This record gives sequence, structure tokens and C-alpha cells, in this order.
Amino acid sequence: MHPDCERILLTEEKIRAKVTKLGRRISSDYAGKEVLLIGILKGALIFLADLVREITVPTKFDFMAVSSYGSSSKSSGEVRILKDLEYGVEGCNIIIVEDIIDTGLTLNYLAENLRSRNPASVKICTLLDKPSRRLEPVEIDYKGFVIRDEFVVGYGLDYSDRYRNFPDIMVLSPKVYMNEGE
Ligand code: IMP
Repeated sequence: MHPDCERILLTEEKIRAKVTKLGRRISSDYAGKEVLLIGILKGALIFLADLVREITVPTKFDFMAVSSYGSSSKSSGEVRILKDLEYGVEGCNIIIVEDIIDTGLTLNYLAENLRSRNPASVKICTLLDKPSRRLEPVEIDYKGFVIRDEFVVGYGLDYSDRYRNFPDIMVLSPKVYMNEGE
């Protein structure tokens, strides 16, 4: 295990089994339709890459990148779109794919933004849900795991852009953020 991590929370095998299940549910819910997965960069990249291969209905995918405004000055959930979609989504069956839902602010902003573009539907899929830190309610249609309020990394999730490449999801050791700014 990496010395910056405290323990493994979810193994690669456990994640794989859950992603397969989510893919099956999506395939059955969207039978006869086409879906458009919208992955939120960078965290959802690995989850989306695995999920899309478990979906058997016609599927397209695209990515958006967003950045929250500084949390101290503006904690309104206002986010800046750094990378937008390539095409219009009018009439599409969208599934937003997130790595983790924490406060819910980013996701609610994105869902509202995408709904204003006249898609046929917008649903939300997240691998991890940290409900204890929620500031705004979010209706999650496809959820992998509910986790406690611990900072996790791996399988796309980062701390300062590091650890995304770990195949397992690990709890980051608090000593890593205690050293912050030193
Ligand atoms: P929120 O729901 O608007 O607070 O934002 C969710 C985003 O916060 C996620 O997409 C992650 O980028 C980040 N985040 C929240 N909790 C964690 C964590 O435990 N590890 C890594 N990133 C996290």
C-alpha cells in the first residue's frame, strides 16, 4: 500500500463488480434507447471508461470540466465551465457520470445547466456518495457506494492531482493534508 494512504476502502475487484451491476441496470433501464454519458473530468474518467464497456445499449460519451470558484469567497455552488460538450444535447438521454458527490453543489449546477439545453432526460450516476457533507439535496439515479466522511483517492480520485492511477480506492492519510503548504 502507498505510504500516503491509511487503508484500502474499496478493492479493484469490489469496484469492478459494482460497475458491472450499474452497467446492467443502465442497459435495462434504457432498452431500445441511446444514452449519452457525460463524464466530469478528471475524476470520473476511469469510472466512465469502465462503465461504458458494461453498457449494452447504444452509447455515446463526452466530457465536461468544471472548476468551483474559491470556496471561501463564494460557496454558492457557482461553477465555471472549463471544457464544454462538443455537440448539442437536444433530445438526448443524458447520464451525468461523477466520481463522488460531496456537497452536491457542482452536480446540481451541472444538472441544471444541462437541463436548460432541452435534452430528453437527465439522470445522475456516481460511483461514490458522501451524504454526510451534503449542502444541497441531489437525486442520484445510479449510485455505487455510500461512504463516510473520509478523503479518498484512487480510481480517478485525486488529492492535488495525485493518486488517480491507483486501481483501488484508498483512504488518504490525514498527515498528507496536515503537511499542506509546508
Ligand atoms: P461537490 O459535490 O460539489 O462538493 O464536489 C464533488 C467533487 O469534490 C468531486 O468531483 C471531487 O472532485 C471532489 N471530492 C469530494 N470528496 C472527495 C474525496 O474524498 N476525494 C477526492 N475528491 C473529492
